[in-house]
This record gives sequence, structure tokens and C-alpha cells, in this order.
Amino acid sequence: MVEFTQKARVERASLKETKMTVKSASTLQVLIDRPSPDDEPGWCSAYRAFAIDYPWDDKKAKILWSWLNDPKHPMDGLVAKLESGQIVGFVHFKETPRGVHACNQGYIEDLYVMPDYRGSGIAHKLISAVVEIAKRKGWKVIRWITKENNYRARSFYDRFARQTNRLTYELFVEEYRSS
Ligand SMILES: CC(C)(COP(=O)(O)OP(=O)(O)OC[C@H]1O[C@@H](n2cnc3c(N)ncnc32)[C@H](O)[C@@H]1OP(=O)(O)O)[C@@H](O)C(=O)NCCC(=O)NCCS
Repeated sequence: MVEFTQKARVERASLKETKMTVKSASTLQVLIDRPSPDDEPGWCSAYRAFAIDYPWDDKKAKILWSWLNDPKHPMDGLVAKLESGQIVGFVHFKETPRGVHACNQGYIEDLYVMPDYRGSGIAHKLISAVVEIAKRKGWKVIRWITKENNYRARSFYDRFARQTNRLTYELFVEEYRSS
């Protein structure tokens, strides 16, 4: 798990502030923006590729997409798209309360750049956009987890975040036995 200390989901009214056009090393014009209805097919196929190790299906995709498009739902997200409208990446995140800091923090659930577009700065632009939201929301910290052997993601994270010494546990409620 890594975290970095920057300040903190944004009201729909201020979403335009998050919109930015970036020029990557390959002079690719990429827009970082909130998902819009037209983005659903591109986002779906990108998310299916991201969730390859999970039992993912169209029903779950519909649910997650509806969360991302519901201003009242805690799950929030940004997409990276080309001028053509093609979706080339996304980041999903949420606000969570953090007891020891007695304030809200950000938690990144998913980050993905389509294979053909990796190494072009898109991942950095997605993270930078989340940091801008963090500043506006007053989050002190943004956290996320990654697999120990996700070396590419880790070397990306190592540029701007620090790895913590926390381990991640998960308890499947239906499997839990108290004794
Ligand atoms: C993680 C991810 C968003 C990073 O975006 P990216 O465009 O690949 O990032 P970069 O090109 O800047 O590469 C990051 C680093 O990995 C290095 N790298 C490139 N190919 C690599 C490989 N095959 N193995 C290990 N490191 C690699 C790069 O050299 C770079 O390191 P550097 O900063 O020392 O130069 C992207 O790789 C991705 O979508 N991966 C699949 C989904 C995923 O793992 N998401 C994260 C879940 S926690």
C-alpha cells in the first residue's frame, strides 16, 4: 500500500475545473474528464481489460458505470480520452474518513491505461487530476493498494508516493467463523 501527502469527490458544478488537455511526450492530445454517457462503450472495454483477473460481467459493469455517473454515490472517476473520443485510461476513487487524521482522505480503487498508450504520461495526468480534486476537497492523503509483483505500477508510483509498511487483509463475511 502506498500513500502520498496531498490535500482532497468534487461537486458536479466544479467538474469543469478538472477538465484539462494535456500533450504527452508523443504530442498526443488527451482530455482528462468526468465520464459522460458517450464514454460507456469505451470505458466498458477498458474496464473489462483491467478486471481480467476478476469474475467481471456486463451486469457488474452497468452497476459500476451507474455509480460513476451518480453525483451522490461515493465512487467517483475520471476518464482519459483522445480527441476522437476514444477512451485510453481511467482512474476511480472515493472519499473515506481517516480516523488518525480526523479528516477525509482519498482512496484510489482502479487505475488503468490501455496498453498501446502506456509510457505516454497519461497515468500521471490521471493522478494529477485526482490530486487537484484532493486539494479542493481537503484530503490530506490519497491511498491505494497494488500487487507486490506489479512492478510497472510500482515503479510509476515510486516517482511520487511512498510505500507504507501496511499489509492488506480482507475477510469474506460468508466464510467467517468466530471460533
Ligand atoms: C500502472 C499504469 C497505469 C502505469 O501507467 P504507464 O503508462 O504504464 O506508466 P509509465 O509508462 O510511466 O511507466 C511506469 C514505470 O514502469 C516502467 N516500465 C515500463 N515497462 C515495464 C515493465 N514491463 N515492467 C516493469 N516496469 C516497466 C517504466 O520504465 C516506468 O519506470 P520509470 O519511472 O523508472 O521510467 C499502467 O501500466 C497500467 O494500466 N497497468 C495495468 C493496470 C494496473 O496495473 N493498474 C494499477 C493497479 S494498482
